[in-house]
Amino acid sequence: MNNYYDYAASTPVSKYVLDSMNPWESEVFANPSAAHTDGKKAFNVIEETRTIIADKIGAMPSEIIFTSGASEANNMALKGVAFQFLDDKCHIITSSIEHKCILNTCSFLERVGFEITYISPNEHGEISPDEVKKAIRENTKLISIHHVNNELGTIQPIADIGAIAFDYDILFHTDAAQSFCKLDIDVDDMDIDMLSLSGHKIYGPKGIGALYIRDVRNSDIVPLIHGGGQELGLRGGTSPTPLIVGLGSAVEHFPEDVSEQQTLFTQVIKNYDFVKNSSLSTVPTIWNITFTSDDEVKRFNIEQNWLTSQGSACNAISNMPSHVLNAIGLSDEEARRTYRISLPPFKCS
Ligand SMILES: Cc1ncc(COP(=O)(O)O)c(C=O)c1O
Repeated sequence: MNNYYDYAASTPVSKYVLDSMNPWESEVFANPSAAHTDGKKAFNVIEETRTIIADKIGAMPSEIIFTSGASEANNMALKGVAFQFLDDKCHIITSSIEHKCILNTCSFLERVGFEITYISPNEHGEISPDEVKKAIRENTKLISIHHVNNELGTIQPIADIGAIAFDYDILFHTDAAQSFCKLDIDVDDMDIDMLSLSGHKIYGPKGIGALYIRDVRNSDIVPLIHGGGQELGLRGGTSPTPLIVGLGSAVEHFPEDVSEQQTLFTQVIKNYDFVKNSSLSTVPTIWNITFTSDDEVKRFNIEQNWLTSQGSACNAISNMPSHVLNAIGLSDEEARRTYRISLPPFKCS
């Protein structure tokens, strides 16, 4: 699919990943909670995968909770912390350019009495650690700022924000759906207490992701899905062995090389007039560009039959101008001339 330029929305499942999943679909398909030998095999491969994920971010395997993806992990992080304060409520800091799964969780929490501060970005989509610091209140219990913006590709200064959270003894969560495997992450060096990740952004299957929770056994995170005690009692439901194995394989085989498509793209895009909507600190695989005129948009669409996004895939459902583009100061008219072109991801730091 060489006209597909929407890899920030989803990536294809790689051959390695498919091959790794197959035996766990129909050969060793036992419930990983079962006590017999096949159950134990499934259990063991899940624990091996937990180690693969943990090693990637400098965590302990016991701190990884498998979820259906980053949306669920983000819900678990925010609600799981907030629900500890159902009586006296608490204050949470986030940004106005988070993914909708964070923003809509925050609106829900506001409706039931929690206080949320939304930090606005500068014109390049950067969240200032100083602004985060200024927003801290006595009852702030959680700061949640994403690592890489899914529309702009901007890399946020999460280590600086983590250091502030650490100084004030506030939990720090980051949505790393767009950075996991692509950028180096060390949860200790970056003072990250919770981190969300997703399989289908790294050539893994859809429907699998994870939440890292620091020292989870001693945390008071409230479960979202009560069930049979799986995932340390935080996420009930039979563990999806093939998806979990696929996630691990995706991590192990994540490419380190720049793709041919990336090289071709940089040559082709030079032929158009546009403004790039992000700072120098961006991942090279996400380009958010505003064409300078409607005619230039038309020319681009006629000459390049590329599958791109305007905003994120979730904005496409609502057909509204992207909240991220509005937050960095683009008018609705400019937003309509704006495209997110995203290339095959690779390890870029
Ligand atoms: C930054 C960010 N957070 C969360 C998500 C949601 O991830 P998932 O599809 O795994 O629920 C996405 C994917 O679109 C994303 O880009």
